[in-house]
Amino acid sequence: KRSYTIAVLPGDGIGLEVTPPALRCLEAAAARFGFALEFRSFDWASCTYYLKHGVMIPDNWKALLQECDAIFFGAVGDPARVPDHISLWGSLLKFRREFDEYINLRPCRLIPGVTCPLAGRAPGSIDFLTVRENTEGEYSSIGGRIFEGTERETVIQNTVFTRVGVDRVLRYAFELARSRPAKKLTSATKSNGISITMPYWDERVAEMAKEYPDVKVEKYHIDILCAHFVQRPHTFDVVVGSNLFGDILSDLGPACTGTIGIAPSANLNPTARKTDAEWMPSLFEPVHGSAPDIAGKGIANPVGMIWAGQMMLEYLGEKDAAALVLSAIENVLGGAKARLQEEGVDVLTPDMGGRGTTESLGNAIENTIRSK
Ligand code: NAD
Ligand code: IPM
Ligand code: MN
Repeated sequence: KRSYTIAVLPGDGIGLEVTPPALRCLEAAAARFGFALEFRSFDWASCTYYLKHGVMIPDNWKALLQECDAIFFGAVGDPARVPDHISLWGSLLKFRREFDEYINLRPCRLIPGVTCPLAGRAPGSIDFLTVRENTEGEYSSIGGRIFEGTERETVIQNTVFTRVGVDRVLRYAFELARSRPAKKLTSATKSNGISITMPYWDERVAEMAKEYPDVKVEKYHIDILCAHFVQRPHTFDVVVGSNLFGDILSDLGPACTGTIGIAPSANLNPTARKTDAEWMPSLFEPVHGSAPDIAGKGIANPVGMIWAGQMMLEYLGEKDAAALVLSAIENVLGGAKARLQEEGVDVLTPDMGGRGTTESLGNAIENTIRSK
């Protein structure tokens, strides 16, 4: 029997609430397709752990994660008690770097049943992928403060673009664009203002485009690209950007499709193999954070986490199970109005305009996976 070991790090806030329904959906899919999932849940990589132990993760964190085939991560952050840069650099950002998960793949789709905040957009008309550089760029720890406490206080943080780092994310994005019907790649930069690193990214795009004559390439400065995301989101196919720009676009895109609560994210090291001298597992998580404003209320949208689990199944090679989970998400959301009328059960959580709960939506998706 095929079997996979999954490290489960629920984290903080709503990470703790969306993880259980997502695990049940994955279990349901595994049962249908005859493979086993062994979940290893850890309470570290959370602010609760930090407040108890003074560190975000135990000394042997790496070995524990490397025993697993993939990492399923909820959300970290409790900004009222632990500064965000401490909790995030001590967990998620560390995992991305140490396991060299250089691709952050974030699909964005307007799903039937979810109200689009933009006028005149039909379900399915928005369907693109953001490919975010995930290990360097603006997220560097190079810099510091000088003349602290004086009027000359100066704070510097450098952006790092390496040829290897830029080329490998562009290569992935070009290949992805080539594999899709529209064969279109949009690159986000800001080469007018950020005059050293961003023109370099443009140069690498232009260079690689020569190898992909079949891919239509366009580039925009990040500011106007944000405007285009709102005004003509249906025209995008694969969008590639640096660490920071990719971060921003991957909240904006899903917001244009109704809510960031449904958006998934795959932090991939696409070249890692389990037989390598050092195994570098990939990490799957929702795009959203720990949402302290709604934590504990039971109303967090579990779809981002479930969909992230779907991307993990795909990564593990369980394509049929992955397809079933995605269709269950779409069926449940698409049938939400009918279900409310016929059964009196609201599955749309408040971020999607309903009065549903994490449980009502999670259960509906799980049951659909079990019964289809
Ligand atoms: P957030 O994504 O946690 O929340 C932003 C807004 O979206 C909030 O109003 C929240 O209620 C809403 N929201 C988010 N996910 C939702 C869901 N599934 N269902 C319904 N509503 C949802 O972003 P933030 O407020 O900027 O950050 C809160 C904390 O999370 C901070 O500590 C931040 O650093 C951290 N964070 C962690 C991750 C991660 O672990 N991957 C990602 C983003 C933010
Ligand atoms: C994300 C998050 C993280 C990021 C934060 C929490 C450091 O916003 O995964 O999108 O910026 O990468
Ligand atoms: Mn983000």
